[in-house]
Amino acid sequence: MINEPGPYDRIRSKTLLGKVMTAEEAAGLIAAGSNIGMSGFTGSGHPKAVPTALAARIAAARERGERFSVGLWTGASTAPELDGALAAVDGIELRMPYQSDPISRAKINAGLIDYLDVHLSHVAQMVWEGFFGHLDVALIEVSGITEAGDLIPSSSVGNNKTWLDLADRVILEVNSGQPAALDGMHDIYYGTALPPHRVPIPIVRASDRIGIPHFRCPPEKVIAVVPTDAPDRCTVFKEPDQTSRLIAEQLVDFLRHEVKRGRLPAELLPLQSGVGNVANAVLAELDAGPLRPLTAYTEVIQDGMLAMLRSGTMSFASATAFSLSEEASAELLANIDYYRERILLRPQEISNHPEVIRRLGCLAMNGMIEADLYGNVNSTHIMGSSIQNGIGGSGDFARNAYISMFVTPSTAKGGAISSIVPMVSHVDHTEHDVHVLVTEQGLADLRGLAPRRRAAKVIEHCAHPSFRDELQDYFDRALHGENGLQTPHLLDEALSWHSRYLATGSMHH
Ligand code: COA
Repeated sequence: MINEPGPYDRIRSKTLLGKVMTAEEAAGLIAAGSNIGMSGFTGSGHPKAVPTALAARIAAARERGERFSVGLWTGASTAPELDGALAAVDGIELRMPYQSDPISRAKINAGLIDYLDVHLSHVAQMVWEGFFGHLDVALIEVSGITEAGDLIPSSSVGNNKTWLDLADRVILEVNSGQPAALDGMHDIYYGTALPPHRVPIPIVRASDRIGIPHFRCPPEKVIAVVPTDAPDRCTVFKEPDQTSRLIAEQLVDFLRHEVKRGRLPAELLPLQSGVGNVANAVLAELDAGPLRPLTAYTEVIQDGMLAMLRSGTMSFASATAFSLSEEASAELLANIDYYRERILLRPQEISNHPEVIRRLGCLAMNGMIEADLYGNVNSTHIMGSSIQNGIGGSGDFARNAYISMFVTPSTAKGGAISSIVPMVSHVDHTEHDVHVLVTEQGLADLRGLAPRRRAAKVIEHCAHPSFRDELQDYFDRALHGENGLQTPHLLDEALSWHSRYLATGSMHH
């Protein structure tokens, strides 16, 4: 069997070729209660076969009345065949650091999975420090194995280096569905350490290469090699709607204004862009010009960024993962030599490293659920209690960016809920880390404004007209209340705002 052409061509190490087995056999090597570090970041580069086989094994064990669950650590979000499959059989005891799967989300919010929502740049050091326990198994998708046994990374890097370094045992999925020509697009840095042994990370431009193209992994740690041939979870992007376009136009106008004022150079500073349709609309607006040549120091390369690299509006993008639609994946493959000159994928502890983000002066643009009058932002929780996805890398960038921008439509749930509220029901980004808020109604530049002035600006520029009077009324009464005037609030009312509007929302839906 192993002489067949195809998947086995990607496994050029004779030692590791000898460890080829099926996904079911590999899943059989994972003990109940293991902590597993899996590859995967925004639906790319995750293992495609072993997690489903493991889920089947867990379901069978459950039927026999045995307890079987695992700790699941990844780079970021994965796909239905990983998070979804394991959550559906109640196979996840603890999940970290980020997820966006509907089944996991429901189980987390039902209290059935312990979820640790961790800044993506913090994961590696926290795992090295041992906070999450011992890492038993690394389950990593790679796009190939060299003769020397080095691992050619796949379409995401995430925490793979950390998992490979720390796990007792390693299971590899070698995905021949990933372009072989990804080889050379990665920059794996082996210079990180825990304090007091840290040295500066020598990146001064987004395009700087500081590491090597492959992962190192002692072959004796590898217990299984599973050939696969399956696509990443392709993201479906919609054509920007009117709301996204309005948000994008205002944000790009603001950046142009900053250039005019001399606060940003004409080629801007390296962009960080969150994922999703609004982010893609912003990239499309930037692609229309005239600012160029732009660069990106970001987490994820999505369709909009690929288009900018293609048109020449962007000269270079550094990230940790791709997150592409089917069409954009085909475009990447068709012109991969062109893109390899212009893209680097790095471990997430480097793509999201506060030191580098601060040095480069990144321009951070992220989505949010709600913001309050004073600029505190909730990116993760509905009604302060139910997780949506997680903080992801938004905190790494927001705290350290040169300009930290947050975007959202001014209302949610068909207009029933205001995304601008008196006090956010959960804080991910404090008023100290939020510089600019943008909705389709307008943009509020909060830099240099004391809290009361911020509130006036947020109401005037960002709130939807149907909520503006009510927010203004709250603010006016808070100004005349009995509490302090630094950040005026009427606590009872601030906290009841959400339940009032969620009740309205559920009536409408
Ligand atoms: N109140 C109640 N519900 C709200 C809401 C609000 N103010 N704002 C949004 N929602 C609901 C939406 O209705 C939707 O619910 P549904 O799925 O039941 O329809 C859900 O939250 C997601 O909203 P949507 O508008 O589709 O979100 P999005 O795709 O624009 O993403 C975030 C917004 C905040 C969820 C997303 O940006 C995120 O997860 N951010 C955190 C991580 C991050 O920033 N990563 C990038 C760093 S590099």
